[in-house]
Amino acid sequence: MGDLAKEHPIGVYDSGVGGLTVVHWLREVLPREQIVYFGDTARVPYGGRSSEEIIGFSRQILAFFREQGVKFVIAACNTSSALALPVVAPSSPIPMMGVIRAGAREALVTTRNQKIGVIGTQGTVESHAYSHALKKLEPGISVYEQACPKLVPLIEAGYREGDVVDSPLQEYLGPLAEHQIDTLILGCTHYPFIRPAIQRLLGPEVELIDPAEATAKEAEHRLSKLGLLSGEKQAEDCFFVSGNSTSFHASALRLGYTQRVEHVDIEKYTI
Ligand code: DGL
Repeated sequence: MGDLAKEHPIGVYDSGVGGLTVVHWLREVLPREQIVYFGDTARVPYGGRSSEEIIGFSRQILAFFREQGVKFVIAACNTSSALALPVVAPSSPIPMMGVIRAGAREALVTTRNQKIGVIGTQGTVESHAYSHALKKLEPGISVYEQACPKLVPLIEAGYREGDVVDSPLQEYLGPLAEHQIDTLILGCTHYPFIRPAIQRLLGPEVELIDPAEATAKEAEHRLSKLGLLSGEKQAEDCFFVSGNSTSFHASALRLGYTQRVEHVDIEKYTI
């Protein structure tokens, strides 16, 4: 593993605040790991962008993480996990993982009627990454995918409830409910922020899957296999954003992250 060392931090990235829902579980499962978080708030949302753009962004973020001395990278973003990871990870000098496989596995052990819904960005849904991951593990499963392009901008702007959130949710969840799904994967790391609204609209009989907890457990397993589990937390977690940090900071504070948020010029990292 060259210059990768146990005491180095884990790099976690997303287009914005979404990856903080993964940081929450990483802190529960891997409390001895230091996290360097990057939110690409200058370029959020990722959901409607081309694969080429998402791949380019991922390579720039990887270059930034290398400079930070990161030992392991988690794409805490479904869009990047679906579109960039299969291309970038195989040649990455730092081991990488995403959120999709863990989410698919958890949904399969949860469903009782073999009908699973997936909500995500346009990029994630059009890639059919969840459908492929689920059917690879369980070929007979029925999967219904729904793109929800209006949600990420609302969540980035700080909305969590009320008509502004319920009205697009009704539009997106209605067709999934008609398919009688009993399990819904929150296939975008932003969506756990509006989990109560989603649960209320679908009713208590539909199980919601946030892939973050299973992702944190998979990260623990991968780090252990690589011999890279940290014995002791070396420093406080650090948060970086490429754009305006005000709304990011407000969301981070709500989750109890009180650290300073620093700006990074991500465009200076060439690929
Ligand atoms: N949170 C991200 C995801 O999981 C990205 C959302 C976006 O920027 O559109 O897909």
